[in-house]
Amino acid sequence: MTGDHYFTAEPATAARRREVEFTVADRDYTLASAGGVFSADRLDPGTAVLLRKAQLPAADTTGDLLDLGCGFGPISCVLATNAPAATVWAVDVNERARELTTANAARVGAAERVRVHAPDDVPADVRFAQIWSNPPIRIGKDELHELLGRWLPRLTPEGVAWLVVARHLGGDSLHRWLVDQGWQVERHASQKGYRVLRVGR
Ligand SMILES: C[S@@+](CC[C@H](N)C(=O)[O-])C[C@H]1O[C@@H](n2cnc3c(N)ncnc32)[C@H](O)[C@@H]1O
Repeated sequence: MTGDHYFTAEPATAARRREVEFTVADRDYTLASAGGVFSADRLDPGTAVLLRKAQLPAADTTGDLLDLGCGFGPISCVLATNAPAATVWAVDVNERARELTTANAARVGAAERVRVHAPDDVPADVRFAQIWSNPPIRIGKDELHELLGRWLPRLTPEGVAWLVVARHLGGDSLHRWLVDQGWQVERHASQKGYRVLRVGR
């Protein structure tokens, strides 16, 4: 045991490489993964629900999309594949996650359009037409609220955020908190114990 969490900045866990296969919107993906990142062995079931139930960007979507807490990059790769005219910003505190997302963006032919950064390295003036996240619930409620309070205000006026949260990890209380913060929140879907929230102004 190393005591690493998946949100550790520089995981000490051996980076045993592996491949994760999944299908979204009739497209097959085979992405690289490794120890020390979130759900390294399979597409996380919550992420799978998000990508199945939320409204994927249309092919003609332009502008900037954010994958908040990208892990090894499954959401970024799906967004970049579905919206070939958009720029995807993939953000994570975990360095190995960023390396894997960079490699996976290249695998899906989107190396030029997926910008992988540590949170503080995203230029402050970028505004996002969409924010996608399976957020890091386990960092703690206050930290999660701080994280969302940092990024959601960077939506464009018409922008939409799609979040997935397990009900047993506080999906419904997060919904209420977002409403209390003044966001328009819709429980867009509910499946396998996960809530898919659509958040806008
Ligand atoms: C639940 S995982 C989702 C990973 C990936 N999107 C997926 O679906 O497999 C949340 C991710 O958020 C990252 N994270 C934790 N704290 C963060 C922060 N303050 N800013 C950005 N990302 C963070 C973690 O390292 C982790 O990769």
